Amino acid sequence: MAIRNIREEGDEILKKKSKEVDVVDDKIRELINDMVETMHKYDGVGLAAVQVGILKRILVIDLYDEKPIIKLINPVIVKTKGEQEVDEGCLSFPNKYAKVKRPKEIVVEGLNEHGQKIKIVGTDLLAQALAHEIDHLDGKLFVDKMIPGTLEVVKNNG
Ligand code: NI
Repeated sequence: MAIRNIREEGDEILKKKSKEVDVVDDKIRELINDMVETMHKYDGVGLAAVQVGILKRILVIDLYDEKPIIKLINPVIVKTKGEQEVDEGCLSFPNKYAKVKRPKEIVVEGLNEHGQKIKIVGTDLLAQALAHEIDHLDGKLFVDKMIPGTLEVVKNNG
């Protein structure tokens, strides 16, 4: 396992569309393990592969709620319901926060790290995280859909 460099604001790769994973093999599993380690290192709740410079449709999410870490390959949103206005940040925008509108509930299908089909039903924070990370796979960033006037820029302490 290894910590990978997180691509940050201004890196053009963040605006690119990621490609589907054809075969879920050990190399993909190694990438997923690295993504989890990197997400934890920076106290994130989610990370998409593009954020470590890999244009593959892979995301990881950990809400630190005792539930298993979500590791999802080729995710597809099959249903959304309702709407929530939420505060949001992103590991690629370490000093920025804003309000965005996200679905209140979301149903996503994809593959797990063993290549098996899985379905995840997320509400509230999980729905937000899934929508945010899947946006990353299409090169969409939260700062592009924030509610005008809600951007907060936090200064570093150091
Ligand atoms: Ni993000």
